Amino acid sequence: MNVPLLDLRAQHVTIKDEVLPAITGVIESQQFIMGPPVAQLEVALARLCGARHGIGCASGTDALLLPLKTLDLRPGDEVITTAFTFFASGGTIHNAGGTPVFVDIEPDTLNIDPAAVEAAVTPRTRALLPVHLYGQMAKVERLLEIAAKRGVPLIEDACQAIGARRQVAGAWRMAGELGWVGAYSFFPSKNLGGWGDGGMIVTSDATTAERLRKLRLHGGAKQYHHDEVGTNSRLDTLQAAVLLAKLPHLAAWSAKRREHAAYYTQALTGLPAVRPLVVAAGNEHIFHQYTVRVERRDALQAHLKAKGIGHAVYYPVPLHRQPCFASLGYREGSLPVTERAAREVISLPIYPELTRAQLDAVVAAIREFYR
Ligand SMILES: Cc1ncc(COP(=O)(O)O)c(C=O)c1O
Repeated sequence: MNVPLLDLRAQHVTIKDEVLPAITGVIESQQFIMGPPVAQLEVALARLCGARHGIGCASGTDALLLPLKTLDLRPGDEVITTAFTFFASGGTIHNAGGTPVFVDIEPDTLNIDPAAVEAAVTPRTRALLPVHLYGQMAKVERLLEIAAKRGVPLIEDACQAIGARRQVAGAWRMAGELGWVGAYSFFPSKNLGGWGDGGMIVTSDATTAERLRKLRLHGGAKQYHHDEVGTNSRLDTLQAAVLLAKLPHLAAWSAKRREHAAYYTQALTGLPAVRPLVVAAGNEHIFHQYTVRVERRDALQAHLKAKGIGHAVYYPVPLHRQPCFASLGYREGSLPVTERAAREVISLPIYPELTRAQLDAVVAAIREFYR
């Protein structure tokens, strides 16, 4: 049985009667730039994520870049982040004029290690940028303490974690809620995916929200008047309409992903060569990815490919080992937990529409390989 890593058409057939009229509405209105769905989605997303303001933008990358730009970083200013992430987390720090400082991760969740963050703080540290990897929140409460002690903001890269929650001081808090800003991506493969690129920043800081709203419109709230140099980074109205139509399904989709993840974890127990990542206590994971650590990964990949089972490695080359960051001076061995994870991880199909037969086919193929 073929099981693709992701099957967006399986989702589309279930919701097209809701999404297509939303798209038609935008076409009829001809308000393609900053039409009403954009503000509607901003309000809905801010509410979902526990923040006061939502600021739509062109991508998750810009949702990181625009807040970083407001920090007015100078050469040598440092932003501490993880190397075990999608490129944008580190690339945007560089593009905002700062230096990414990559620290190691925790072996059980592969999220950034607060102790490593604390050890990396210097007088040049200007922000902390944790990533809620694969849809599970990092230890945001510890990171907030470190940020507060140094007097710098926390930028939550929640691009993979929309709707994820973590218990902090006895209360459930959303990914993106507690930081100075939270950044989300609507890349089509995300739990809430558009029909193209899109992103959103949330914040409860009114001054920051106002500045971000200007920055995405070339730095001016009023047309042809520019307070600072910004860029064109609007959320497309058509994308906002698609996302608004999909949003009511998000919680059920993520719950389905959790169900599939629990099934995999249970079905793979007793295989010492396959170790699922841990869902940390007090965390509600949204399983943007379901990732396990395995032995003989290359051979397993070849086997899965032959069996028609989709899979992927996120991420084979951590950011501190990317050629573009060679001048930062990291070497093999600089971040041992990260480097080991990069050699061992593999992600399996986890989209909500997977059938029990498909899940079983994935498990059977893995079991067959390690028999
Ligand atoms: C952790 C992380 N940060 C940032 C991004 C950037 O988002 P986008 O692709 O929408 O620019 C992504 C998306 O893939 C991501 O996974």
